[in-house]
Amino acid sequence: MTGAAVRAPSPADDIAEVLVDADAIRAKVAELGARIAADYGGKDPVLVSLLKGALPFLADLMRQVPIRLSLDFIEVSSYGSSTESSGVVRILKDLAQPIEGRRVLVVEDIIDTGFTLRYVMDHLQQQKPESVRLVALLDKPARRIVPIGIDYKGFEIPDRFVVGYGLDYAERYRNLPFIGVLKPEVYNRA
Ligand code: PRP
Repeated sequence: MTGAAVRAPSPADDIAEVLVDADAIRAKVAELGARIAADYGGKDPVLVSLLKGALPFLADLMRQVPIRLSLDFIEVSSYGSSTESSGVVRILKDLAQPIEGRRVLVVEDIIDTGFTLRYVMDHLQQQKPESVRLVALLDKPARRIVPIGIDYKGFEIPDRFVVGYGLDYAERYRNLPFIGVLKPEVYNRA
């Protein structure tokens, strides 16, 4: 190629405002990890993460929990490509290993209406684990319809549609290293 390099469009170009920057996420993840390690040391918990949004949070969090543990994954869908929760939860991929008698810690990126987590917590409880607790990086309490107890909570955020650090809009923006609000024209473009 010749001439001046043309910069490829970046997902960060579509962000109007950063709500939680990468340093704040790092500090909070370290704090949550230390609490979880103190509570679960010697208890061999299984971290059950919800694909796909919780992936970066899980990857960073587990490295801040230096105890014996294992991982498993569930994938559910409640949003499709819309920005609104439908309230209808579908399991796309279930656990790979039994959790009977295990201490389960659910790792989630965001609790919005609460429909997804209520469904998942009930689904896990039916399998007779020793305990089920929840760590969520983001909590949007203004949107809650179903009450959910969050045992380890990262940040409370206002009622704005956020993307980044795992969170998507139409499957994009998950790779941003911060949590931000999209420019309104991005929705209008769709
Ligand atoms: C998002 C998010 C939570 C859920 C929260 O998942 O990751 O699981 O919505 O919303 P609620 O509290 O209103 O139920 P999504 O269905 O978009 O899937 P994803 O993790 O693949 O992004």
